Amino acid sequence: MLVLGLDTSCDDTGVALVEDGYEIRSNVVASQHLFHERYGGIVPTVASRQHCRAVNPLIEMALARADVGLSEIDGVAVSSDQGLAPCLAVGVAAAKALALGTGKPLVGVHHVEGHIYSNLMVHRDLQFPFLCLTVAGGHTMILVAQQLGSYQLIGHSRDDSAGEAYDKIARRLGLGYPGGPIIDKLARKGNPAAFSFPRPMMTDDSLEFSFSGLKTAVNRTIAQLEADGESPVVEDIAASFQEAVVDVLIEKTVRAVAKSGIRSLAVAGGVAANSRLRERLEELSRTDEVRVFSPPGELCIDNGAMIAGVGYHALLAGQRASLRLDACPNAPLGDLGIRYRHNSKYASAGRHPAS
Ligand code: KG4
Ligand code: ZN
Repeated sequence: MLVLGLDTSCDDTGVALVEDGYEIRSNVVASQHLFHERYGGIVPTVASRQHCRAVNPLIEMALARADVGLSEIDGVAVSSDQGLAPCLAVGVAAAKALALGTGKPLVGVHHVEGHIYSNLMVHRDLQFPFLCLTVAGGHTMILVAQQLGSYQLIGHSRDDSAGEAYDKIARRLGLGYPGGPIIDKLARKGNPAAFSFPRPMMTDDSLEFSFSGLKTAVNRTIAQLEADGESPVVEDIAASFQEAVVDVLIEKTVRAVAKSGIRSLAVAGGVAANSRLRERLEELSRTDEVRVFSPPGELCIDNGAMIAGVGYHALLAGQRASLRLDACPNAPLGDLGIRYRHNSKYASAGRHPAS
């Protein structure tokens, strides 16, 4: 079954063709980073307009790379749940038009489920149940994946996500957007012990996260250095901040393994591409306590392939969306209706450049 997958949930336009849920025939992504760099964050209306421009050429490109015509696809899957409303709406409209034009079935997919699925797509030996550390710009959480469509939330961020903290610190340092890859690169040249930033919520035995206090501590340090007339050594700030984030993510993950007794761990979302996090996960997997699975970089970022993958299983199970399918920016995840976004004033509008 050949499924065309579409993702326009945030600032990347992704289109892919996937055979039987696993074999990626093509996977094309148009990044909008250059458009948002000047704002230091994503402006939803700007992102939506860019999706409008990119989506049709990208569909053409994905079909050409897979060497198939539109009439050969068996279904259309689209990220309809979780993301920025004006962005999701573009993908949903394009998917509906494709389904209507081809007469092929349509399914809506939860964007976060796509991220989780990217692990199953490449690691055929990953068995349920497994733990999933899901770290992106919109959320940070630890889930138990029981089955496709069935997840249990065991820890999540009470305020900012890890990706949000990366993006906001990068903006404070005038480094551009998105902050994660830039800070990751600078941190390789810095001293992680140069500043002692807090590791929030480490003292109790909870699996909850909080990154807002860490972000404030880093901002305060930068402000103090500036007030003292010293220019901050960006590499050292980046390395010390990153070490604090990764320490927390690893510690909570180790706790989740111990508490749940589940020894398979998957990682997902944009921050899963972080080189230091990957290094520490690698160390963890060498302890034999846990087997770690992670997607390749191109499946960590937002992409259409993960959506086509989830869509395949949904179509196989007989799910069909009508042409009334709607974009749902804050949709709960899975059959338990998990709500994992913190209650920040921007939660329903997605990330905002002024936050
Ligand atoms: O999953 P994603 O592409 O979009 C959401 O669904 O949110 O994640 C984007 C987030 C951004 O906050 C970005 O700064 C972060 O992932 N990110 C990274 C890295 N690459 C992307 N954070 C840390 N290190 C990276 N290498
Ligand atoms: Zn994402």
